[in-house]
Amino acid sequence: MLRLSLGLAVAVSAMCVTSLNVPPAAASVDRRASTSDGDCARETMTNIVRKILDSMLAHDPYSLPLATVYKATENSHPAALGMMTLWRTVTKAGPPSLLAIDATQGTAFFALDISEGNDLTESVLRARVKVVDQEITELELFINRYRGDHGFSFSAAELPTNYAELMSPPANRTKASRATLRELSESLFAESSNFSVTVGNDCQFTEIGWRVVDTGTYGNGSSTPLGCAWPSDHPTDANARVGLVIDEELGIVVTSGIVPGKVLPYQNISAFIPDKMTSAQEAQVEYLEAMKAEGTMPLLSPIEATGDTLEVLQYYNDKLQAMQINVYLSGPNMTSPWL
Ligand SMILES: *[C@@H]1O[C@H](CO)[C@@H](O)[C@H](O)[C@H]1NC(C)=O
Ligand SMILES: *[C@@H]1O[C@H](CO)[C@@H](O)[C@H](O)[C@H]1NC(C)=O
Ligand SMILES: *[C@@H]1O[C@H](CO)[C@@H](O)[C@H](O)[C@H]1NC(C)=O
Ligand SMILES: *[C@@H]1O[C@H](CO)[C@@H](O)[C@H](O)[C@H]1NC(C)=O
Ligand SMILES: *[C@@H]1O[C@H](CO)[C@@H](O)[C@H](O)[C@H]1NC(C)=O
Repeated sequence: MLRLSLGLAVAVSAMCVTSLNVPPAAASVDRRASTSDGDCARETMTNIVRKILDSMLAHDPYSLPLATVYKATENSHPAALGMMTLWRTVTKAGPPSLLAIDATQGTAFFALDISEGNDLTESVLRARVKVVDQEITELELFINRYRGDHGFSFSAAELPTNYAELMSPPANRTKASRATLRELSESLFAESSNFSVTVGNDCQFTEIGWRVVDTGTYGNGSSTPLGCAWPSDHPTDANARVGLVIDEELGIVVTSGIVPGKVLPYQNISAFIPDKMTSAQEAQVEYLEAMKAEGTMPLLSPIEATGDTLEVLQYYNDKLQAMQINVYLSGPNMTSPWL
């Protein structure tokens, strides 16, 4: 632990000195921000994230500062960066809409809309990166192109506005400690927890950019976006990866859990419903039977699936302020390639 933090501190100060060689726009930000080690670490991670996005635009992963041995996945598939889809297809990638930085662990989570050639159908890129001694040791990438990738809500159009709220929390907020953010992360996929979570009144709930609107099985329910919930019957995962990125400044913590479930017909589309949500699954089976009897529209047969989840929580003023359920689906009985 000691070695890790010393290594990071050295990496960070070296990076902040050399960062004056970067292009003018970035350099002016650097000079303004270089006031402390924490700022310097944030600046280092911000630069690394920009380099990752620029390398995608250049279709050149080989320009990145990769560690001699690095771990990387794209949509839960392990692959060398040079074999990944993103470095072939991305044609537009602006600054991240969400950027959470963990200066202590040298990790970051970022999310943004990207274009793969057709700006009318943007995709959502989200990723976790880990840096040791200025080199990328871990890169966990997901690209959600549309609703079927995760099984429900998607909005590249709404994403920038929604995520901007997380990036500008009120200046007078009471920040949560690192220990509290870690406890929050631990309780997310836990069977039971002593950490009791109060949900803020304006807590923003999104799934892949979209404030979730659920008009119900028959499509006749409310179209008001759902708020956050912290139910006791949430999906659990004894092997959840907790505290992957803990940004004490923004109050953001990223957690990964593997969620077994089923894709079921939902209205005239389909929805991924975790196995833990038994009554929600039963309602869809009932709906399927009713619609089969009517025989008026094609319905997806229920199929088992596993959600690889990178969930983003924001917490300050002793309350949950945002919850992003970011899922990518694979086949049944999958585990995490990161375990
Ligand atoms: C922060 O300021 C707003 C008004 O700008 C006020 O309503 C709120 O109560 C303040 N919150 C805290 C935690 O002080
Ligand atoms: C919760 O608190 C009780 C009593 O303080 C303790 O025995 C138990 O181990 C705690 N459980 C967890 C999951 O921390
Ligand atoms: C929605 O439609 C279903 C099926 O027709 C019906 O059972 C239910 O009562 C309706 N709900 C509302 C809120 O109208
Ligand atoms: C599904 O139903 C909605 C209205 O509820 C409609 O706008 C949409 O076009 C339908 N999609 C298909 C593929 O039938
Ligand atoms: C695979 O998943 C299904 C559905 O969750 C479960 O019924 C089955 O027991 C699992 N199989 C194995 C080998 O774990």
